[in-house]
Amino acid sequence: MFPLQVVNRPNAALRSNIHGIDLKVPVLGGKKKPFIFFDNAASTPPLKTVLQQMDEFMKWYSGVHRGTGYKSLVSSRVYDHSHDVIAEFVGADPVLDTVVLVKNTTEAINKLSYRLGLKPGDIVLTTEMEHHSNDLPWRQQARVEYVQVDAHGRLNMEQLQNLLKKNYPRVKLVAVCGASNVTGHINDVHRIAELAHGFGARILVDGAQLIPHHCFNMKPHSHPQHIDFLAFSGHKIFAPYGCGALIGPRWLFEQGAPEYSGGGTVNMVFRDTVYWGSPPDRDEAGSPNVPGAYALAATLQYLKSLGMLQLSRNEQRLTSYLMEGLGRNREVILYGSTPRVGVVTFNIKGLSHALVGAILCFEAGIGVRTGCFCAQGYVRRLLEETENPDHLQYYMKRELHKLPGMVRVSLAAYNTEREIDIFLQLVEQICQNKKAYRDSYQWSEQLGTYVPKDLGVESLLEEIYQRVGF
Ligand code: ALA
Repeated sequence: MFPLQVVNRPNAALRSNIHGIDLKVPVLGGKKKPFIFFDNAASTPPLKTVLQQMDEFMKWYSGVHRGTGYKSLVSSRVYDHSHDVIAEFVGADPVLDTVVLVKNTTEAINKLSYRLGLKPGDIVLTTEMEHHSNDLPWRQQARVEYVQVDAHGRLNMEQLQNLLKKNYPRVKLVAVCGASNVTGHINDVHRIAELAHGFGARILVDGAQLIPHHCFNMKPHSHPQHIDFLAFSGHKIFAPYGCGALIGPRWLFEQGAPEYSGGGTVNMVFRDTVYWGSPPDRDEAGSPNVPGAYALAATLQYLKSLGMLQLSRNEQRLTSYLMEGLGRNREVILYGSTPRVGVVTFNIKGLSHALVGAILCFEAGIGVRTGCFCAQGYVRRLLEETENPDHLQYYMKRELHKLPGMVRVSLAAYNTEREIDIFLQLVEQICQNKKAYRDSYQWSEQLGTYVPKDLGVESLLEEIYQRVGF
C-alpha cells in the first residue's frame, strides 16, 4: 500500500528506541518469551533516547522561575519552552492559546470544568462513547446531555445537531473524544466543531487516544472548524512521567481564580486582594513537574522527527491486518467500526474476557486490557447489556471476571505483524480448545486475574518484584 522503505523506517526506528522492547517474561512450559505489549491505549513505554536526554537534563534540574543560579535558569527555560513544543505539535496558536501543564487528560478535563465558569442551567453536551473522565467532571458542573451512539458505537450526528438546536443557546460546550478508548472509533471532531460553533457552543476534544496515533491540528481560531480546547496525556504518547496538557484560548485562563491556588499562581498577594498571574502560571499551582514537561516535549520532538503521518499509516496498516485476522475467526465477536485508531476490542464466544486476557498473558506473554475500560456506559451499549445492581456487588467483592466486558488489543506504530501473528495463532488455539482452557485456569482473588493452575504465578511475580526492588 505504501512504499516499504518509507513506511518501515520510522516504525523500525521507533521500535528500536522503545525501552524494554526486549523484555522476556515466563510463560507456561517453563520458558521465557519476549513480552508483546498490546495495551498502548492504557500507557505507552518510554523511549531510550528520551531517557538518555533526561539523564543529562536532570543534572540541571531545579525549581523554576523563582530561583537564582544556573540550574534554575536552565530549568526555567526548559519548562517554558516545553509549553511551546507541545503547542506546536498540535497546531495551537502561539499567541491566542495557552498550554496548561497538568498530570493527565483526566486532570485537564476536571480543570476545564472549573475554569469554564458554567452557570446553573448551562448544558454540556457529551456523548455515550466517552471515557468516564469526559463524563463525570461535567456532571458536577452543569446539566449534561448525551449524544447517542449506534450499535457499532458511532455517534449519531443528526441527534447531536438536534440537541444543539433544541437547547440553543444553553449548550456551552460539546465535550467529545477524538478517538474512543474502547472501539478506537475516530470522530470527525472538526465537523463537530463547526456544528457546535454554529450554535454558539465551544468544543473540547479529549485527545487522549487521538493525539498519540494521528496527525492533528487545532486549526486557526478564525476557522469554523477550530478546536477550542484540547486535552491529552504524555503517558499515552511514550512520555510516562506524569505530564499532560490542557490547551485553550488564553483569554479564558486570564479570567477568575484557578481551582488550585498557591505558589506560582500569583503576581502579588495583599492581605485583602490577590492579583493572579498570567496564563499558564495561574493554572499551574505549586512546583511544577519540570522533568515530566521536559520528557513530553522531547518525546514529541522525536516523534515529529520520525513523521507522525508515517507512524500513523503504519499503525493503520497493522490495525487492518489485525482486524482481518480476527474477522476470519467465526468464534470472535468484533466491536466498533472504521475509521479507527489501533484499538480493537473483541470477545470469544462462550469465554470470559478476563480468562482470554489471562491466557494471552500466561501462554504467550501478551499484555492486553480486558473489562470496561473506564467507559462502562459505552461497553454496556455495545454488549447490549442493561445497568444491573448485581454488577456493583461483583465489583465490591473483586469478582471482576463476573462483570461484562471485552478484550482490548491496542497497537502503536512500533508493534509488528509478527507479534500480531503470534496473537492470532493463540486466539485460534483458544477458540478450538475452550473447555481445556476453562479447566486449566482458576480465578485468583489475590491477583484479580485468572491464573493457570500449573504455573506458580505468585512466585514468578515475586522474582520480578524483587528485581524492580519492591
Ligand atoms: N484510559 C486508559 C485506558 O483506556 C487508562 O486504558
